[in-house]
Amino acid sequence: MDVVSFARGIPGPDLLPSEEFGRCALAAARKDGARALNYGPPSGYPPLREWVAARHGVAPERVILTTGSLQGFNFVAREFVRRDATVFVEAPCYDRSLGILRSLGARTVAIPVGEDGIDVEGLAVALEATPGEKLVYTIPTFQNPSGHTLGRAGRERLLDAARATGAVVLEDDPYGLLRFEGESLPQLFELARGEDAIFLSSFSKTVSPGIRVGYVVLPQELVGAIERHVLENYVSPSIFVQAALAEFVHEGYFEPNLERAREGLRIRRDAMLAALEAEAPDGAAWNRPEGGYFLWLDLPDGVDAAALLERGNEAGVTFVKGSDFYLDGGGSNAARLAFSFATAEEIGVGVERLAGLVREAAGVAA
Ligand SMILES: Cc1ncc(COP(=O)(O)O)c(C=O)c1O
Repeated sequence: MDVVSFARGIPGPDLLPSEEFGRCALAAARKDGARALNYGPPSGYPPLREWVAARHGVAPERVILTTGSLQGFNFVAREFVRRDATVFVEAPCYDRSLGILRSLGARTVAIPVGEDGIDVEGLAVALEATPGEKLVYTIPTFQNPSGHTLGRAGRERLLDAARATGAVVLEDDPYGLLRFEGESLPQLFELARGEDAIFLSSFSKTVSPGIRVGYVVLPQELVGAIERHVLENYVSPSIFVQAALAEFVHEGYFEPNLERAREGLRIRRDAMLAALEAEAPDGAAWNRPEGGYFLWLDLPDGVDAAALLERGNEAGVTFVKGSDFYLDGGGSNAARLAFSFATAEEIGVGVERLAGLVREAAGVAA
């Protein structure tokens, strides 16, 4: 039996611009091979850096292109741990970032995320109570893992609380451009006018994860410190891939590709919602994200996601158990479902299998 995977947050093959990127790779080697095929600046291929900087309305010096945005997170986290900062994270939170913080021995405070994003009042109280340097790590738009989004008022409040306590905000936003319905919201970085805010994003979800290009936009005063972390790690990132990506954006492929990704993701999200509506037993609850890759499934009382997952392979469906997204407890009764990879048809089959498992575990008749 083919296993339907709701586990990995990766794009389906139809969402990848193979043809277009292939053309751009060839053009990059032909047009600018002398630069593209050599070592380059540690902060990345200058024309792409300039394109990113222009999109965010900052000087190119404030942009560092990294080998995926998780690497940018790693550099920023390292710097703040070195400064003995307390790092505020969301609960649940992207598991790989949590893993990095854990391995760095970071001092962390977890703030719950609900239907409307991070609990900003709880965050404000926790910030007030914490002396010293502070970093607030948040994924405010189509959060990984929950799919939840912080509204406009919440964003303003979060920034007020950070400003009042001298905290730096680290906004991780790989999914913001993948909105397929509803009104788009300003980034925290935009609302803060780039002050005391760091913006992290990626081309993994807007172009391709295989190219491994992400970036971080920094306040000027942090640029030197983060560049030192870059230099401790490598000579330069993959300049050739960045040159091909520069060609991709300059040839006008970026927006049409985004449109294609949005449409493909909307179809998949709708398939997952329809299947859950039809199949999920009483007591299960889920959200309806307006973009991104994920939704969050709360299981009926007493159903343990880890036990369910153990039976998943046999039943032909996988997901990530909610507890993986918490630093110290929580989420045992929930699951992250990625709708980004499987086809709409496979999603229907996968949800049916999952619902069968949940019913069995909850002792509910079909
Ligand atoms: C919130 C978040 N940050 C960072 C990343 C890592 O992205 P990249 O592929 O750019 O390293 C992901 C990937 O899933 C993510 O969901």
